[in-house]
Amino acid sequence: MKAISIHSSRGGTGKTLLSFNIAAVYASEGRNVSLLDFDFRAPSLSTLFGVERRRWLNDYLNGEAEVKDIIVDLSDRLGVKGRLLVGFANPEMEAMREIARKDRRWQMRALRRVMRLKDELEKMDVDTVIFDTSPGVHYSSVNAIVSADLSLLISTMDLVDLEGAQRLIRDLYEAFEKKVYIIVNKAIPYELATRERREMLVARISRYFRHPLLAIIPCYCDLLLQSSRRRPFVLEKREHPFSRVVREIAHRLDHL
Ligand SMILES: Nc1ncnc2c1ncn2[C@@H]1O[C@H](COP(=O)(O)OP(=O)(O)O)[C@@H](O)[C@H]1O
Ligand SMILES: [Mg+2]
Repeated sequence: MKAISIHSSRGGTGKTLLSFNIAAVYASEGRNVSLLDFDFRAPSLSTLFGVERRRWLNDYLNGEAEVKDIIVDLSDRLGVKGRLLVGFANPEMEAMREIARKDRRWQMRALRRVMRLKDELEKMDVDTVIFDTSPGVHYSSVNAIVSADLSLLISTMDLVDLEGAQRLIRDLYEAFEKKVYIIVNKAIPYELATRERREMLVARISRYFRHPLLAIIPCYCDLLLQSSRRRPFVLEKREHPFSRVVREIAHRLDHL
């Protein structure tokens, strides 16, 4: 089983969109995937999938629920060949506040629970776990990064995102000796229009990062026109260039 965390220094870089769509690529190809909402400060998967729950990942981390209570099988709903097992974070305001108040001891216990969750998922034949994390160094992201085999660090070309990602690499990924790959998202299509311009963009990116650049994803305004929020874009519009690049990323991840 492989665990991948998807992370960034700031919100809005595309972590959730990528997590959700990479998971959908794998599940549509017959694999068993678990997508876990580890953005406890701004949960979004429950809204994206339009689900209401009584038990959440938060309850599992608190030791108040078991894996079977919090994992939801959405394969039939999405009509995928494999299985898509989702763990949702509680989007209620009080739940977000509560998790922000947790101390270090709780966080250490939560890390052990995350490890157990991975073991349980493996017993359920899950071959890939994807953690959609909270931006920055919130403990839940650190737990996800520590438990993952590799991380995708998403940045836009915005200076604040780039420098924030640089700091995360230095203070978090290198400190924990974790494998990390860079994805630049929302690139200006103009900068990718010719080989020359693309090379210039890659050169600019490489001034910020020594770690490998996995992909550059252009900004596509029509992603906002997605007809159904509950179906991932890659399944809805298979031939769209965004879907192609996400499939390429998913397949490249197999060799990392
Ligand atoms: N390549 C892209 N082109 C256009 N819009 C994008 C792209 N990537 C992400 N977005 C949009 O940006 C917004 C923030 O993305 P999201 O995945 O929620 O970010 P995060 O989870 O990192 O906070 C969403 O509306 C999403 O659809
Ligand atoms: Mg998100």
